[in-house]
Order: sequence, then C-alpha cells, then structure tokens
Amino acid sequence: MIKLSPSILSANFVRLEEEIKILEREGIEYVHIDVMDGMFVPNISIGMPVIKSIRKATNMVLDTHFMIVEPERYIDEFISLGCDIINFHFEATKKHMEIIEKIKKANKKVGMTIKPNTDYKEILPFIKHLDLVLVMSVEPGFGGQSFMENSLEKISALRKYINENNLTCDIEVDGGIKLDNVNKVLEAGANVIVVGSDIFEKEDKSTIIKQYNEIFKNF
Ligand code: DX5
Ligand code: ZN
Repeated sequence: MIKLSPSILSANFVRLEEEIKILEREGIEYVHIDVMDGMFVPNISIGMPVIKSIRKATNMVLDTHFMIVEPERYIDEFISLGCDIINFHFEATKKHMEIIEKIKKANKKVGMTIKPNTDYKEILPFIKHLDLVLVMSVEPGFGGQSFMENSLEKISALRKYINENNLTCDIEVDGGIKLDNVNKVLEAGANVIVVGSDIFEKEDKSTIIKQYNEIFKNF
C-alpha cells in the first residue's frame, strides 16, 4: 500500500489547520512535518510549539523529519509531543542505537534518513531495527527543489535488500516529487511518498491529491 505524506513546509502557516483538514477530507493518513535547526541544514523551520498545536488539531499520523544536529537531545520531547514517526538523520548523530531504542521503547515508529551523498550501505547495520528509511532526493533544507535522479538507485538497492532479507521496513522518499516523476520513484520501490510544493502551492489541493492517489493504485 502506497502512502502519500504531504509536507506542510510549503503550506500557508497562517491557515495550517484548514490545510490539514483538506488532507483529512481526502483520506490522507500521514502528514510530514519538517523540523530544521539552522545548523544541520541552512534553514530554520518550525519546532515544538507548532507540533504541539498540530497534534491537538488532528489524529493524522505525524510523520516528523528532524533535520537537527544531535537529535538525541530532544527524543524524549518529540515522543511526549505525540510524534508518531520520528525520522532522524544518520549524518546528525553518533548515537544511532540509543535513539532507535528510545523511540521503539515508547512504541513510536523510527526512521533513519540519508542525505543525497550518503551511501545507503551506511544504514544497513541498523535497518533491521527500523520501521522506515527516508531517502532524501534533494539536499535537505528547502522545499521546491529539483528531484535528484541518483536517489533512484539507492531506493532500488534498499528495496532489494529489504525484500531479500524479509524486512518490513518502509522506504520513504522526500524532495522534488511531482506528478510527472512519481512513477519512477514508485517503480524503484518507495512506498511512502513525501510531496510538499506540488500540493501546497496549488490552488486546488484536493484535485492534485486525487491525481496522486490514482497513480498509486497502479502499484
Ligand atoms: C526538505 C524537506 C522536504 C520538503 C519537500 O528538506 O525535507 O520535506 O518539504 O518539499 P518539495 O516536495 O517541495 O521538494
Ligand atoms: Zn522532509
């Protein structure tokens, strides 16, 4: 089952609840929330108070993507904020297993994220403990960038590894996804698809969500 995870980074933050309600009305289960610290990435986005408000406003699965250095400093807080999926960057920490264990102990889902220049093999030692792997198809930090084709090989290699080893780990892909390139990401084996600007910069968000869901039916 393919899932869409709309990234609110490109949403109108003044009307965030309305925008989230559009996703709910379209039957979308996941909402992707990008947290940036201005250190791990050259941008600062949203943080704890906004996640807290979103948690109160919806029962959707909060698919959080933490682009912060040493995420171990905040794992307890992310858990108590009600994040359902906590994605942290492989490159941002040395305490991978400590983070994974803490998140799993709290019965939340854990995802490890890799930047475009990180070899997928780096995460293989951890993969059996992960609920998902998040492959970045742009340099993290900003919405609206162009999709990087080199992510496709990584996705295929990860899909092969996951299937051959009978793992249940999801493969999420994030960055530059549009209606006209989503097919190749799905063909490569991703099953959670983050889309930011292609949804939130459209006047008619419901129609574009329906178009993605139509494509997903073929996989
Ligand atoms: C980038 C973020 C993405 C971003 C995707 O660092 O992780 O989630 O919002 O936006 P688009 O789909 O516009 O590339
Ligand atoms: Zn993201």
